[in-house]
Amino acid sequence: MRFTLATVATALIGAVAVLAAPAPKYTGCSLSSIQIPKEVLVDPTNSSNILAAPAANEKLFKIVLGYGSQNYSCVNGVATPNGAVATLYDLSCAFAVSPEWADVLTRGAVQMDPTAQLAGIQMLKNMFNAQFIAGVHYFKGDFATPLFEFTDKAKFIGGVGGKIPALLGSDTGKRPDNYGAVPSLKLVPKQGMGSTVSTIYRLHTAGGSPPPGTCNWQGQKQIPYAAQYWVYKST
Ligand SMILES: *[C@@H]1O[C@H](CO)[C@@H](O)[C@H](O)[C@H]1NC(C)=O
Ligand SMILES: *[C@@H]1O[C@H](CO)[C@@H](O)[C@H](O)[C@H]1NC(C)=O
Repeated sequence: MRFTLATVATALIGAVAVLAAPAPKYTGCSLSSIQIPKEVLVDPTNSSNILAAPAANEKLFKIVLGYGSQNYSCVNGVATPNGAVATLYDLSCAFAVSPEWADVLTRGAVQMDPTAQLAGIQMLKNMFNAQFIAGVHYFKGDFATPLFEFTDKAKFIGGVGGKIPALLGSDTGKRPDNYGAVPSLKLVPKQGMGSTVSTIYRLHTAGGSPPPGTCNWQGQKQIPYAAQYWVYKST
C-alpha cells in the first residue's frame, strides 16, 4: 500500500481526533497488551528464517519511532554503512489508537522532509503540550556499535543478533533516495557495556537503503529512514 502525504495528513487528523477523546494521553501509554505480531518476525522471502521472539522474562518497555538517516560511504565501489543518526519519538499512544496508525506515522515520517515531518510531530506536541521525544540513536565511532540513549536514562549498546529483509510492501524511502527499506533487525547488548535494556527490534522499516550496484560517489551519503524500535527489558 502506498501512503501519500494526503493519506498521512488524513491519518494525522484522524489520530488527533482520537487522541482528543475524553481523558487523552499522548505519551507513556500502557504497552501491556501489545505483542509483536508473529509474521513481523518472519523473513518474507524464506519462512524458515525468523528473528527470535523476546524471551519469556523480557517485558516490552517502549515502542519508539526512529526518524533520521542511515549514512554510507563508498569504499572500493561498495556502499558501506557509516553510522546512522535518529531521533526517537514515543509511539506508545499511537499504538493505543491502532497499530495501523503507528505504521502510517512511521511511513509518513520518511516521506516528509525533515521540517515537514517535525511539523507533523510539532503539531501534536503543540496541540497537547506533550513531550514525544524519547531519546536518540547513533553509532559509536567504529560504526558497528549502535547506541540508544533514552530520556529516562535507560541505555543500550549493542550489535546485530538477527537480520531479515524488510516486510513486504515496506516504504522504499523518500525520492530520490527510494532505494528500499533497511532490513528488520534484532539487536542484542554488547557484553560489559552497561546496557540497561536487553533487546531492541528494528521493525516496520521505511527507506534507508543505499543506491544499488557499484558506487562511485565521494564523501558520505545520508539516506532518510524511519523505523519502529521495540525495546525490551529483562525482568
Ligand atoms: C532459508 O533459511 C534457512 C534458515 O536460515 C536456511 O537454512 C535456508 O538455506 C534458507 N533457504 C534459502 C532458499 O535461502
Ligand atoms: C550521519 O548523517 C547525519 C545527518 O543526517 C549527521 O548528522 C551525522 O553526523 C552522520 N553520522 C556519522 C557517523 O557520520
